[in-house]
Amino acid sequence: MKFVPQGWIAAAQAVVLAFGIAAVAQAQTASKDLVLTGDAKCTRCHDEGDDYPVLDIGRTRHGVTADQRTPTCTSCHGDSASHITRPGGVSVRPKPDVTFSKHSGNSPEERGAACLTCHEQGEKHMSWQGSPHDRARVDCASCHTVHTPRDQVLVKQTQAGVCFTCHKEQRAAMFRFSSHPLRTGQMACSSCHQPHGSVGDHNLIRTTINDTCYTCHAEKRGPFLHEHPPVREECTNCHNPHGTNNPQMLTARPPHLCQQCHVAPFHPSTLYSGSNLPPAVGADKMLGQSCANCHSQIHGSNHPSGQRFTR
Ligand code: HEC
Ligand code: HEC
Ligand code: HEC
Ligand code: HEC
Ligand code: HEC
Ligand code: HEC
Ligand code: HEC
Ligand code: HEC
Ligand code: HEC
Ligand code: HEC
Repeated sequence: MKFVPQGWIAAAQAVVLAFGIAAVAQAQTASKDLVLTGDAKCTRCHDEGDDYPVLDIGRTRHGVTADQRTPTCTSCHGDSASHITRPGGVSVRPKPDVTFSKHSGNSPEERGAACLTCHEQGEKHMSWQGSPHDRARVDCASCHTVHTPRDQVLVKQTQAGVCFTCHKEQRAAMFRFSSHPLRTGQMACSSCHQPHGSVGDHNLIRTTINDTCYTCHAEKRGPFLHEHPPVREECTNCHNPHGTNNPQMLTARPPHLCQQCHVAPFHPSTLYSGSNLPPAVGADKMLGQSCANCHSQIHGSNHPSGQRFTR
């Protein structure tokens, strides 16, 4: 922020008066690229500067002046009369009506309201009220930065970093041996989650976990001639979508994964373990893909005699 001494302003005004309208017009076009319309009462103090790039907002979607709904400084920060005028000559300048840091003195509701006046409509925002983030009082500016041309949470490659500031558990999972390709930027948290809230549980983009997975893994949808009930129920019976230390994000390694539910009559009903390694009986259930060596169609089978998911 560069504070312009009163005297300088007076001098500038005199110059402007002397040189007439043309100079005024030029001054306006010089700043118009960056400054939102109707902001002069704020920008006369908050102008461009190295350490105070608030006017970069003019280079974001909020600065598209052709859009009728474009906000001005006061749409978000409020009229802020006392901040501008310092009534009674108080030595400390009162804050604007709305500021967005945690220690601003404004409640999350007040901070959110500044955005919701324009952003409560539309498919992506309808479920905000009462959503997990709203209930936890995580306001819009906890995720969004509006004064920078690159809002990190809107960019696939950097989005997870914003979420990880609060979600440490998911951060740990994503760095395990097997996980979805988020670190490469091929996907983002928002590939599965709608952070503004959704009709389903866990802010998922579809009503159920499985429908969310099918948006990309359509071949697992079926219907199959022979269904495996835990697959139809929930993919998370066997996979953790944030990542695990087992291959294919499995929650446990086969045979243990399968033996949580099956100590099958057809097979010896003992738990398979290291003692089943060759040359012992049952080694075929420990090596390679374990149970999936034979039960390879574990998500369901369309083969007439695939009721055991072996084909
Ligand atoms: C007369 C000069 C002046 C005007 C006009 C002015 N400001 Fe400020 N503003 C300041 C100063 C000085 C500070 C730094 C105050 C401080 O650090 O305590 C500041 C700080 C701020 C802050 C940061 C507050 C914080 O504590 O985080 C915001 C936001 C802000 N102004 C918005 C506005 C808006 C919006 C307007 C127009 C409605 C506006 N200002 C008009 C001088 C001004
Ligand atoms: C006066 C209306 C208004 C207010 C208030 C407002 N916005 Fe916006 N916002 C817009 C318009 C207009 C757009 C651009 C058109 C669109 O995306 O619908 C936009 C776009 C955005 C975008 C998308 C940016 C992009 O690059 O795609 C984000 C994120 C956003 N606003 C967040 C916020 C947040 C956070 C607040 C509160 C701090 C806020 N908005 C307050 C009108 C507003
Ligand atoms: C938990 C983090 C988080 C919070 C809190 C959050 N957003 Fe977002 N927002 C995102 C992410 C991530 C995207 C990108 C979503 C996508 O790509 O589908 C986004 C996208 C947007 C967009 C652009 C997409 C569009 O067309 O609508 C707007 C506008 C927006 N948010 C406004 C808001 C407002 C207003 C609030 C507060 C009521 C808010 N956001 C709260 C994370 C958040
Ligand atoms: C779309 C809503 C919105 C608009 C429009 C807006 N601001 Fe902000 N402003 C915010 C939010 C949110 C923050 C908190 C930091 C961030 O998100 O970048 C903020 C932070 C600030 C700060 C503190 C900067 C800091 O780093 O602490 C100043 C000063 C400020 N705004 C001034 C202005 C001025 C001047 C204008 C008009 C040119 C303006 N704002 C327009 C939402 C807005
Ligand atoms: C491939 C889809 C997918 C991706 C990508 C994804 N999630 Fe999830 N997330 C889920 C599903 C499904 C659940 C429900 C888990 C359950 O019920 O066991 C969930 C649950 C959650 C929960 C609730 C607590 C929990 O673990 O059950 C949080 C918090 C969460 N995810 C955050 C994130 C964050 C942050 C990211 C990005 C780093 C992310 N998720 C990426 C699918 C995904
Ligand atoms: C400022 C901290 C914060 C940020 C940033 C944040 N979250 Fe959250 N999130 C929370 C809190 C607090 C809750 C509610 C408590 C809980 O369930 O962990 C929550 C809840 C959730 C849930 C719902 C959990 C459930 O079981 O219903 C999901 C999913 C989620 N966040 C995903 C995200 C994603 C994706 C991002 C990034 C785009 C993100 N969060 C950014 C704090 C945050
Ligand atoms: C936005 C698309 C998308 C969604 C939604 C999605 N996935 Fe994925 N999934 C991928 C991609 C991309 C890969 C990596 C494929 C590759 O590397 O060849 C993958 C890989 C996998 C793998 C194999 C990992 C490995 O190590 O080979 C499993 C298991 C998986 N996903 C399960 C799920 C589950 C369960 C869900 C639902 C909670 C889900 N996916 C939702 C895109 C998605
Ligand atoms: C009963 C446990 C179980 C359930 C439930 C389950 N899977 Fe799997 N999934 C596996 C096993 C075991 C593998 C490894 C198969 C192998 O090694 O050949 C696997 C592998 C995968 C793979 C990577 C290899 C491939 O076949 O493409 C994807 C993707 C996958 N599962 C998605 C899903 C989705 C989506 C769901 C929910 C519709 C789901 N899984 C439910 C056990 C399960
Ligand atoms: C969450 C529990 C659960 C897990 C984990 C699980 N299954 Fe199943 N599985 C079932 C249920 C329930 C059935 C249906 C049993 C029935 O119809 O009597 C079934 C059926 C089967 C069948 C057909 C058997 C029959 O009697 O028709 C085979 C084969 C099978 N599972 C193999 C596996 C393998 C291999 C794994 C590990 C990759 C596995 N299952 C993991 C619950 C599970
Ligand atoms: C060497 C191949 C092979 C391996 C490895 C294997 N199975 Fe089987 N399994 C079979 C065959 C063959 C059948 C009978 C198939 C049929 O009748 O169509 C069968 C049947 C089953 C059945 C149905 C039992 C019944 O009584 O109808 C279940 C459940 C089962 N296996 C689970 C498992 C589990 C869990 C593992 C890993 C611990 C496993 N299988 C490993 C070959 C194998």
